Amino acid sequence: MAHSSPDPAHPGRAGPQHVAIIMDGNGRWATNRGLPRLVGHRRGAERVRAIVAAAPGLGIRWLTLYAFSTENWKRSTEEVIGLMRLFARYIEREADRLSANGVRVRFIGDRARLDPRLQALMAGIEARTAANAVLNLTIAVNYGGRDEVTRAARALAVAALRGEIAPEAITEATVAGVLDTAGLPDPDLVIRTSGETRVSNFLPWQAAYAEYEFSPVLWPDFLPAHLAEIMARFGLRERRFGAVAAG
Ligand code: IPE
Ligand code: IPE
Ligand code: MG
Repeated sequence: MAHSSPDPAHPGRAGPQHVAIIMDGNGRWATNRGLPRLVGHRRGAERVRAIVAAAPGLGIRWLTLYAFSTENWKRSTEEVIGLMRLFARYIEREADRLSANGVRVRFIGDRARLDPRLQALMAGIEARTAANAVLNLTIAVNYGGRDEVTRAARALAVAALRGEIAPEAITEATVAGVLDTAGLPDPDLVIRTSGETRVSNFLPWQAAYAEYEFSPVLWPDFLPAHLAEIMARFGLRERRFGAVAAG
């Protein structure tokens, strides 16, 4: 896609402007230490702070983080409630810093199932940071790619029934426009930590042409230096988008 601007260090190549991360391994990090899983999630939230702070310096303009999937409700009530509290606390504690640093915060996922107080915090920080442009931070909460596409299909069906759109006029751009990520560029690079090599329902439409990197590091141990190293490796890859290699 034409979203990336050229990387000055590599004329003709583009660094990843939009990096999406599947932050995995919090539970194992805690279990390895004989600690409750929630301690791992707390430590993971601290890593989010560090990665968000480092992202602009690495040339990242769009950062999307997978925080809670539509499948994560299958976990224990204790873990789910603990995670929801952690999200609320993250927003409350980080709001000033994010605003001051020019970070625009957005959320993707189905909010309807979330606690109204959390929904209000999410809407509040989105509104408060809407004019910021240093870094576009998108946090996926109760996000599932299949759920997102299903909700989009429903929205288009409703529009068609109302006569607002003709079925034959539906294009890829129309579909993209009714996804939660409407208006966001597609990710160039998707990183998953903790050594798992699956996508787990993360951005299936948007990452159709993304590069993938899998890091063995558990999320609570993932440092800006790890991100920088992965970004450097990405710079050496050749992206073809279905065409043939450039001469
Ligand atoms: C990722 O860490 C955070 C969430 C999915 C909320 P996990 O909690 O999945 O950690 P592991 O995979 O059990 O180690
Ligand atoms: C994916 O991790 C979801 C998040 C990181 C929020 P999971 O740990 O839930 O994924 P699976 O269950 O290993 O596929
Ligand atoms: Mg996991």
